[in-house]
Amino acid sequence: MDEAYVLPRPASIEDPLRIAVLISGGGSGLAALLQYQESEARAHQTVLVLADSQDAGGLEHGRSREIETHGISLPQVEDKVQRRQSHEELVHDALVKADVELVVLSGYMRILTPSFVRRWKGRLVNIHPSLLPKYPGAHAHRDALADGATVSGCTVHLVDEGVDSGMILAQSEVPILADDTESDLQERIKKVEHVLYPEVLDRLAVGEYSA
Ligand code: GRF
Repeated sequence: MDEAYVLPRPASIEDPLRIAVLISGGGSGLAALLQYQESEARAHQTVLVLADSQDAGGLEHGRSREIETHGISLPQVEDKVQRRQSHEELVHDALVKADVELVVLSGYMRILTPSFVRRWKGRLVNIHPSLLPKYPGAHAHRDALADGATVSGCTVHLVDEGVDSGMILAQSEVPILADDTESDLQERIKKVEHVLYPEVLDRLAVGEYSA
């Protein structure tokens, strides 16, 4: 049976929730969140930025603000399963060491194992660039265009043991235009992601969701 979600403690501006943001690429979502947190006092603060490689461009967003930031590459372990588990142990240890209370996946391109998810379940959120349950997986934009969809968007959800299948917290829609390319759609969706994710984190941090 799947474990229950254990949501983060209700936080406040005086005692903000300690967030880690996990990225794999350019981190435009991370940059938008950091700007949001800088623009006003919030009930959450980013205390750790992690990427699954040392050369993820988005690491710079953490480093330039003097937030603890690490690229954690996959260890040199031959067995694939063990390599994945060892990598997740390194990530888990970094989260625990930094007293992280909520893990925010923001363009983190690795699927986490059920055993990692169980340790953070309810305190692990993801943003996915489609209106889930439509178009889960790594090719959401391509799948939406191939399907002839006329709307898409993004979904913020709690992560469970499946792929893009956890409890939905919020969604934003965008139109798909007749001659959209994948990259047109991706850019349009990122714009709404950058607004929606920080707002959902506000609500999650102050205890507005129940699971
Ligand atoms: C976002 O569209 C997110 O939904 C998806 O990956 C993209 C990350 O972009 N999972 P960025 O690295 O934040 O620019």
